[in-house]
Amino acid sequence: MISYMLTGQRFPTKEHKKLRCFAHQALRFQKSVDVTGDAVALTPWLRFLAPKLTGFVDLMESTAFMLKYMEDAVKEHKNTYSEDDMRDFIDRYIQEKRNNPDSSFTDEQLNVVGVDYLFPASTTVTATLTFATAFLLNYPYVQVKMQEELDAVIGRDRLPTLDDRINLPYCEAVLRETMRKETLVPLSVVHRATEDTKLGDYDIPKDTAVITNLWSFHNDKEFWGDPEVFRPERFLDEDGNLLKKDFSLPFGVGKRVCAGETFARQYMFLLFTSIMQSFNIKCAPGTLPPIPKADSPGIIATKRGFWTRFEPRT
Ligand code: HEM
Repeated sequence: MISYMLTGQRFPTKEHKKLRCFAHQALRFQKSVDVTGDAVALTPWLRFLAPKLTGFVDLMESTAFMLKYMEDAVKEHKNTYSEDDMRDFIDRYIQEKRNNPDSSFTDEQLNVVGVDYLFPASTTVTATLTFATAFLLNYPYVQVKMQEELDAVIGRDRLPTLDDRINLPYCEAVLRETMRKETLVPLSVVHRATEDTKLGDYDIPKDTAVITNLWSFHNDKEFWGDPEVFRPERFLDEDGNLLKKDFSLPFGVGKRVCAGETFARQYMFLLFTSIMQSFNIKCAPGTLPPIPKADSPGIIATKRGFWTRFEPRT
């Protein structure tokens, strides 16, 4: 989806090899660093001592793959560019550069922005919906409540749209609780103080690496009461409406939060509710519900694959 919005390129089913290769590189990137952004981010000289062990080689090679993907797409767009037919993000970027000579936009920036979006878009949404599936297998009553809400608000004759989101508070609460209970980016992304500053009682000198512990806040007993329990109702008031403020922070905190938040929330809502409207999610024959916990290393918390049965609803 993001590839289509950025570059106009889709991966049709017959090109599954290309898609596999793309997914492999995205996964390689995500696993090349741990939740701290890795030892290499905090102590960059380590890459000279142990380039493979520290994940540096994987990081560089997977980034080079995505950069090449973007560079090829940009080249192709420049050859076929037409002011009357804006196809995607790349076209708009080229347009801004051509029509505004003082623009700060550069080709290098365009390629890097593309890479910045391609990596998270290829992993985060799938990882979150995998956790949501694992939770539903463990708490079947949540699935029933979602389907009751979907049947009452939308029925079965059409698919959910973004306009329905406001009328499906329970479905929304299930997604929010999934992202709170399993914090996808537990330590967010490492930042660096650009000047001497103060945070609460702490002095933070310029250039200090600052790590936001989102996991810790999502599991704070004082704030949530029972953070260890999967309970979508915590995001709802007594009338079943979404609380005015969502206090969870899966997309980070501060000015520089996730740039894909709106896209991710909307995309996950559409995918998840469309599946729930038409299918019952069941354990595969002979299997137990998977433990809904991250069990695979990487900068984002992911769960290894498990078999599931999607049974069409009658
Ligand atoms: C469930 C899905 C997602 C979660 C939980 C998530 C979470 C995060 C977090 C915690 C950060 C770090 C924020 C910080 O530095 O404080 C981040 C950064 C970022 N995310 Fe996401 N993300 C998700 C999906 C996406 C998607 C789908 C895209 C692209 C379409 C995306 C693009 C980005 C980008 C570009 C940044 C870097 C922003 C910057 O440094 O300015 N994310 N994300």
